[in-house]
Amino acid sequence: MEHVPWARDVAGRLLAEPLPVRWAHVQGVGHKAEDIAHVVGDDAELLICAAWLHDVGYAPALVKAGFHPLDGARYLRDVEKADERLVRLVANHSCALIEARNRGLADDLAGEFPSPADFLLDALTFCDMTTSPTGTPVDLAERLDEAFQRYGDGHLVTRSLTEARPQLEGSTRRVRAALDG
Ligand SMILES: [Fe+2]
Repeated sequence: MEHVPWARDVAGRLLAEPLPVRWAHVQGVGHKAEDIAHVVGDDAELLICAAWLHDVGYAPALVKAGFHPLDGARYLRDVEKADERLVRLVANHSCALIEARNRGLADDLAGEFPSPADFLLDALTFCDMTTSPTGTPVDLAERLDEAFQRYGDGHLVTRSLTEARPQLEGSTRRVRAALDG
């Protein structure tokens, strides 16, 4: 677990001061990952680091494309020289490719950061989508309802999450099954 303090420090440095509510969410996601990390076996450390770092792209200092999975992944690749699997997890968390497509950024995202497309990504998505924007545990339906209300009908994020919903439900179901099994 030698990289976890690094991941926590990078996220805190980028988010805690400018975006305290986002930082509260990230702390919730990080702790959730620590709780369930056993479910990914030898990749536990990778999952926990990705959870702490998944939203760094919201940091004002990092905003370039204006799409946080892409801005965050580029920062982690170019500045932090992070592990490629970690960077690809951050770039693709919570069905980012669907929103990227709706923003005209799919080629950038998929070209630079191919999806890991495995259970690790399910686990990261599960941690994010079962943690509220303020860091408390919620179920996926509540999380989506809150986002739909926050962004409103017709918003690009609402449309993207609606499109992603079956995949988000699949990720959540697979992780819960593994935890229960
Ligand atoms: Fe998140």
